[in-house]
Amino acid sequence: WWRSVQPAPKDPILGVTEAFLADQSPDKVNVGVGAYRDDNGKPVVLECVREAERRIAGNLNMEYLPMGGSVKMVEETLKLAYGENSELIKEKRIAAVQALSGTGACRLFADFQKRFCPDSQIYIPVPTWANHHNIWRDAQVPQKTYHYYHPESKGLDFAAMIDDIKNAPNGSFFLLHACAHNPTGVDPSEEQWREISHHIKAKGHFAFFDMAYQGFASGDPEKDAKAIRIFLEDGHHIGIAQSYAKNMGLYGQRVGCLSVLCEDEKQAVAVKSQLQQLARPMYSNPPVHGALIVSTILSDPDLKKQWLKEVKVMADRIIGMRTALRGNLEKLGSPLSWQHITNQIGMFCYSGLTPEQVDRLTNEFHIYMTRNGRISMAGVTTGNVEYLANAIHEVTK
Ligand code: LMR
Repeated sequence: WWRSVQPAPKDPILGVTEAFLADQSPDKVNVGVGAYRDDNGKPVVLECVREAERRIAGNLNMEYLPMGGSVKMVEETLKLAYGENSELIKEKRIAAVQALSGTGACRLFADFQKRFCPDSQIYIPVPTWANHHNIWRDAQVPQKTYHYYHPESKGLDFAAMIDDIKNAPNGSFFLLHACAHNPTGVDPSEEQWREISHHIKAKGHFAFFDMAYQGFASGDPEKDAKAIRIFLEDGHHIGIAQSYAKNMGLYGQRVGCLSVLCEDEKQAVAVKSQLQQLARPMYSNPPVHGALIVSTILSDPDLKKQWLKEVKVMADRIIGMRTALRGNLEKLGSPLSWQHITNQIGMFCYSGLTPEQVDRLTNEFHIYMTRNGRISMAGVTTGNVEYLANAIHEVTK
């Protein structure tokens, strides 16, 4: 048994957390995983979540959810993506199931894609969240890439992206980050989204949105749904993976949603039944607690208002840290341009540091980040920003 099993390589993101936890240095800084911290570097439980937990505690039971999860949670989640008064929701054209956060939603979709479009491929941006590659690989969907990030400008390689969309075979699947692109922090402008939508439509491609950071780009979940709304206006049939890990701080609850926009209600019923059938042999039905927290918050106007306020506080703290990190690097007299730190948005800064420079940060300064140079701005605080800037300056001299 198992004699041929070799140790798996470390995960490029979660492996960084493991290394950080093993480090005994009092100076250590974790800007690896995309998980929000307050200005003392502590994980945060949102006030709206604490209040929802208090309300839930009284009438909790531990029964199974249906295979598709909490209907109430899914309903509220669709409104965030498709719009509060979406006709598509009213027309019941969206097949949607609760998913095990964003990862689970992507994986369920990838399996669905493989089952019903077995010869299809997925176009993935370069770069992307490392786990996207694992997800579609394990679902046995071949992967292609499209241009996204332009290393010289540290912005979007828009022309090359459009060319790749045009050159892909008609009816291809495209994975898009709805907002706050991970790892680059580079999002298309509204105008660029309109053009992307136009070309994707012209080629009959299918757009699948991973929306793991709704609220973290602008501080407002409604504004962060802009790309999706543009695609809806243009009449696309899209799919969306939504997650509450970041914007409700429910990382460990694994609560999210997969939705697929269909032609009509009949098709949506069929698609949903197939999504449930994919879920059943994998995990039967999703966990209940996180879904209850989400539905309690979103169905209560006061709690929802409180949530929106708290999302903005998180997004604003990150923006403040971008300014502070850039300011400190400039104060140190770094001759390099650090403008991209404040140009990029969302939880991450794609710093441009090389893997070797990142290794030096870790070995000499106990600073932990992924080797692609991604800095999780959520881990930067008033207490560590000077230390971080100084270390970055040292390794980039
Ligand atoms: C990240 O990119 O750091 C997060 O999405 C956490 C993860 O699971 O990789």
